[in-house]
Formats: sequence, structure tokens, C-alpha cells
Amino acid sequence: MKAFTEDSILLAIETSCDETAAAVFRGERLLANVISSQVVHAQYGGVVPELASRAHVQTITFIVREALEQADVYPAEIDGIAVTNAPGLIGALVVGTNFAKGLAVRWNIPVVPVNHIEGHIYSPFLEHHALEFPYLALIVSGGHTLLALVHSFEHYEVLGTTRDDAAGEAFDKIAKMLGLGYPGGPEIDRHARKGNPHAYQFPRSLIHAKNFEFSFSGLKTAVRGVIQRHQDPLPESIICDICASAQEAIVDVLVAKTLKAARKFGIARIVVAGGVSANSRLREWFEQIARKEGLQVFIPSMEYCTDNAAMIGLVGRYKLLHHPNLSLQFLASPTFVLPQHQTASSPAS
Ligand code: KG4
Ligand code: ZN
Repeated sequence: MKAFTEDSILLAIETSCDETAAAVFRGERLLANVISSQVVHAQYGGVVPELASRAHVQTITFIVREALEQADVYPAEIDGIAVTNAPGLIGALVVGTNFAKGLAVRWNIPVVPVNHIEGHIYSPFLEHHALEFPYLALIVSGGHTLLALVHSFEHYEVLGTTRDDAAGEAFDKIAKMLGLGYPGGPEIDRHARKGNPHAYQFPRSLIHAKNFEFSFSGLKTAVRGVIQRHQDPLPESIICDICASAQEAIVDVLVAKTLKAARKFGIARIVVAGGVSANSRLREWFEQIARKEGLQVFIPSMEYCTDNAAMIGLVGRYKLLHHPNLSLQFLASPTFVLPQHQTASSPAS
């Protein structure tokens, strides 16, 4: 088998949810980053797992081929593969991991599993070369919300996660209640620009709690209450006010908890990543806080906020370089299980 070195060519594959994505690196340089978003789910107002798996099966070969063409790389030149194996939709992950393993056997090259959340945690390194350890990472995606203290490429502590809905899930569910399209986050973002963020005082659950946990289900219930008090159909102005007020409540909690952790641990570098980091109010608020508090805030540009294979390649490359004795014997897993070298701290005091 070929050895994987600093200049090696890497193919990365991501299929954990409703994006089929492939990226190619030559050494540190990202040569191609191709993403196909599945439109089939929009009509159902949410991701249908079985349809996601089938769409990945239909698309993955084309996406990988497209990435190789854009990178101007022949299959025989690839030295290693990185693939998302957890967390996510199990059927979707199985498509990507089996495809990657098949290619690795065929080409006799190593394949490494990458945790999707770790992809988001380290994603700012794709662009921000000034980023250094340690930093705080706020990861806000459709399936997960967590705050982590990141010490190095292989060591981070999870300070807190969500007790119920993830931030992105809250955006998606509120958008669905308002009859807006899927994914809901960008729709709420768009409508919020025309609304009043102070029209409704929605709950900011756990904002004053000493821990770093999140909860967004109370917000969802409060929004449902407001919707029920109005006659159907809701006027556009009310929809915009609800969007702006709900978005303000979510962002307020995310910023407050992150700031609290920054002060507690004396960390001045903050990473915000995952799909919800595409939110314009979240980005604006973090930029203001950075100026006011003298913090450095790193948020990936749009193409690296939401799911992509470049972030999987970034982590996979590190693993291939530092752990050369990898085996094919890894499984896809739907849950976010902390790898053994990571710790979950409970800084409740
Ligand atoms: O990280 P991601 O692409 O996929 C998962 O790993 O889940 O995150 C998708 C989530 C969805 O819930 C989507 O509504 C949310 O990110 N999202 C946004 C925005 N763009 C995407 N949420 C708020 N505002 C946005 N502009
Ligand atoms: Zn994600």
C-alpha cells in the first residue's frame, strides 16, 4: 500500500445527511470542493432518511468524478481517502463509507473515518491561517449544538450540548410551523430582515444557567402559541416579526453562552461553525462582540459553514499523516460518540 505523506493526494467524501459532497486535496491545498444538495426533501418539509440514502447512491459516483475532474487528478494518483462515518443518518453514512472502502480496496490505498462534528470544529483552518489552539468552538448544525474547548487537532472537551432540539432543528421546525420552505434556517434569516426582533419576547432557555447546555424546545412551543393566537393565514408582516424575534432569541442564547465560556476559560479565540453559522444575525452579532470584547472570531465562509467534504478532508489528512496504521474495520454510526481521547467535562460550577 502507498504511504500517505505531506504532499499526498486525498479524496474526501461526505454523505451524512442530505448533501452528497466530495473534495480533493494535494498536500494542504484544496483543489476541488463539490457539493450536491438533495432537493427531493423540500416537498416533505424535512429530510426523509430513505430518500436521502437513495439520492446518495444515485449521485455519489458523479460527484466524486466531478471533484476529480475539477482537481485535474486521475484516480490512480489518489493516495488516501477520508470519509464521514458519524454522526448522521445511518443509511446515508453507509452509502459514503461503503463507497469509500470499495475505492480504497480497489486502489489499494488507506481510508480513514472522520467524525462529522470534528469536521465542523476544525473547518475554519481551511481558510483562517491565523487560527491557533486553544479556541472555543460553537458548533451549530441541523442535528447538533455544542460548545467545545479545543486544545489541539486531537483533543477537545465538550462543555455542553443541547438537551433537546439543535439550533438548526429549531430554525427548521419554526419555519415549518410558519409554512416556510425547507431548510428553514435560510428562510427565517430572509424573512427576519423584514421583521422586528423585539415584536415578541420569546424565551431564552438556560441563558442564565451556570452550565453550557442549550435547550430550544421551549422557544418552539412559545412560537406555536403566538401562531395560534392569530387567524389563519398569518399576514406576511407577522411572519417576519415572528422570524426576527425567534432568530433573535436563538442567537442571543448562542452568543451569551459562548461569551460566558470565553470568560470562564480565559479564551480569546472563538470559532463558530456548522450550518447555522451561515445565519446573518449570528455572524453580525459575533462580529460586534469580537470588536467590543477584543476577541478573535473565526466563522467559515458560506461554502464551508454548511456540510461539505473539504472539512472532512482537512481532518482526514491529519489522521492519515499521524496514524498510518488504519484499518478498513470501521463502521458507520448515527450517534455522536466522543472518541476515547476526548473528554466531556461538566463545568457546572
Ligand atoms: O451543518 P449543516 O449543513 O448540516 C448538519 O450537519 O445538520 O446544518 C444544516 C442546518 C439546517 O438546520 C439549516 O436550517 C441551518 O443549518 N441553516 C441556517 C442557515 N443556513 C442553514 N440556519 C439559520 N440561518 C441560516 N442562514
Ligand atoms: Zn453538519
